Amino acid sequence: MSYQPAPVRYDTMQYNRCGKSGLLLPAVSLGLWHNFGSVDIFENGRKMIQHAFDNGITHFDLANNYGPIPGSAEENFGKIIKQDFPGNLRDELIISSKAGYLMWPGPYGEWGSKKYLIASCDQSLKRMALEYVDIFYSHRPDPDTPLEETMMALDHIVKSGKALYVGISSYDAETSKKAFDILKQLGTPCLIHQPKYSMFERWVEGGLLDVLEEYGVGCIPFSPLAQGLLTNRYLKGIPENSRAAKPAGFLQKSEITDEKIERIKGLNEIAMQRKQSLAQMAIAWLLKDKRITSVLVGASSVEQLQNNLGAINNLEFTDDELSLIESVLRR
Ligand SMILES: NC(=O)c1ccc[n+]([C@@H]2O[C@H](COP(=O)([O-])OP(=O)(O)OC[C@H]3O[C@@H](n4cnc5c(N)ncnc54)[C@H](OP(=O)(O)O)[C@@H]3O)[C@@H](O)[C@H]2O)c1
Repeated sequence: MSYQPAPVRYDTMQYNRCGKSGLLLPAVSLGLWHNFGSVDIFENGRKMIQHAFDNGITHFDLANNYGPIPGSAEENFGKIIKQDFPGNLRDELIISSKAGYLMWPGPYGEWGSKKYLIASCDQSLKRMALEYVDIFYSHRPDPDTPLEETMMALDHIVKSGKALYVGISSYDAETSKKAFDILKQLGTPCLIHQPKYSMFERWVEGGLLDVLEEYGVGCIPFSPLAQGLLTNRYLKGIPENSRAAKPAGFLQKSEITDEKIERIKGLNEIAMQRKQSLAQMAIAWLLKDKRITSVLVGASSVEQLQNNLGAINNLEFTDDELSLIESVLRR
């Protein structure tokens, strides 16, 4: 059956300005790190993309190495775009990709050289059968490549028409500042920063968020649900089909400690009092800070995605709720 996007797709989503740019992003975006690779069920991924778009998620986040196998998430996404988003529908999508982690053997297959970033961007475009991506990221800082070279590569990618905007991911506050200054000088201002940020991972509060505000750069936290921990997924053990149970998953069973489960249960109770799921509360908790443009969730089913979308129905927190959350997190 051919897919017809829902006519009401823009009726409920909230769109936030990305820093001081002209670009609006949906409050919830979808990432394809897990569950879209060649080891996964293609139709499940396809249904998630369709459901996302039908509900106003316009932004899909990829990287060269997403799979497994590396590259297969981009290939599958390319197939979905070709099948379901023909013609001008491409203009309703914000597609991002990145390069930084190991993608091919030899000295040019990872980190931040111009050689690697440009070749990787070309490969990603080929895999997705796209003419351009909307955002291209340096996926991680490279301690051995001059920052100028990495930023010049991003600038070159935009000026050669392969991306519209650039971003950086997992750069600390000081290096981010330097990167933003270089990019500005080059005439390609940085659009967005993608850091790991959730109730369980708060390093960005130590300076990065202030830098992003100062420079007018947007912020899209990844792993906002701590890979599934900040949901009801692990309240009663480790389900067989969960990320923690999968050999290729990045969530280790050893990370699911009794202490953590106690905290998750405490948070779950607060969420229930707010009449939302823990996943919804974890997303709303990030969006309460106006410096957060969009929250980049993952999902393994349409049901999870639908649940996550419900976060935008209750984004307000009372001071009491916030201090209760802090007290549970400090336990
Ligand atoms: N820049 C970077 O270095 C970097 C690194 C990591 C990720 N990312 C990006 O961020 C995106 C999101 O990362 P993530 O997948 O780790 O995000 P996440 O949202 O923290 O975790 C997603 C996982 O949580 C579980 N889940 C999601 N919604 C749920 C719900 N409503 N109820 C119960 N369980 C739920 C699912 O686990 P199960 O699979 O167990 O069902 C799902 O796979 C990635 O796809 C990628 O685009 C970027």
